Amino acid sequence: MKIAGQHYRTIWVEDDGDAICVLDQTRFPHEFATRRLRSWQEAATAISEMVVRGAPLIGVTACYGIALAMREDPSDANLHAVARSLTDTRPTAINLRWAVNRLVARLERCTPAERAAAAFRESAALSDEDVATNEAIGREGLALISCIAAAKAPEQPVNVLTHCNAGWLATVDWGTATAPIYMAHDQGLPVHVFVDETRPRNQGAYLTAWELGRHGVPHTVVVDNAGGHLMQHGEVDLVIVGSDRTTANGDVCNKIGTYLKALAAHDNGVPFYVALPTSTVDFEVADGGREIPSEERSGAEIRYLNGRTASGDVVRVDILPEGSGARNPAFDVTPARLVTGLITELGVFEASPAGMARLRGAMAGAASGLAAAG
Ligand code: MRU
Repeated sequence: MKIAGQHYRTIWVEDDGDAICVLDQTRFPHEFATRRLRSWQEAATAISEMVVRGAPLIGVTACYGIALAMREDPSDANLHAVARSLTDTRPTAINLRWAVNRLVARLERCTPAERAAAAFRESAALSDEDVATNEAIGREGLALISCIAAAKAPEQPVNVLTHCNAGWLATVDWGTATAPIYMAHDQGLPVHVFVDETRPRNQGAYLTAWELGRHGVPHTVVVDNAGGHLMQHGEVDLVIVGSDRTTANGDVCNKIGTYLKALAAHDNGVPFYVALPTSTVDFEVADGGREIPSEERSGAEIRYLNGRTASGDVVRVDILPEGSGARNPAFDVTPARLVTGLITELGVFEASPAGMARLRGAMAGAASGLAAAG
């Protein structure tokens, strides 16, 4: 993505090779700040404090964390201890475990002396893969948006509603839910996005709105409770959200509030799509509602809000009465029956056991194609 004409990814290795650089998402949208991560512990803190967030990006950050750790101590014991600690930083997004396990398996085949260089190389490859995957998701989703656009009057925008940030900032580039939107916009299709603010951390208002704005995509921020009303009044053509984990039945675990959007979409006949890289699928889990560990975050995220005053200062304010408690479940599960389709880099699949079996076959085919290619 370009910011003020300069191309950015969300994570990169510093020129001197000394540290990993990320965009500090806790400071958006009021400040555009980067953060250097010089050790695996700093990478772990960046993930748990949500300096970086979004399922694909935390996987890549954890891998670079392992690379930093291998520079200090490339022993088997350290590799496994660091991998475990990084995997434990956030429990819900399966990409994190997938990316760490994949890297650990590759490093186990190296001598300790080779591990740091190999880990940096593999992390860079994972970053590039994420970009290519999201581009492919974009092309698949673009076909859906184009179909909807074709059925509307030429000047009428396709209205997409999205929840949380499954955008460029949640991945290395493009985003998952946003990739089709960016491609549609770049091709001149009129597209407008309703952005759920996504309480309590406001990933929609702070991050999705920011990145859509930088790219010039028309958008409107709405409160989380507005979606059902907009759908009842025919103002939403389709919903596209991301996923932190998708099960073998096609259930989708994503940011808290996604389920309510799916219910409203179902009641109003609005297509509800989930955009996800296949690394987000957990075939070991069938029933998302019962089997996915759902992160509970601090009530402080509900109590305090960041904002900018009229004089330009960024301040944190307390919005709850003294003495009130706050409960903060961070994810919910949308049952497969409410999902119209899963937009992946390998095509659009039905969210059902049969659709997931077809996806599994496509994943196996893609993996053997890659192995044959070298
Ligand atoms: O808690 P967050 O901000 O990491 O949650 C992010 C989401 O729920 C995204 O929708 C999901 O990770 C998909 S990102 C492409």
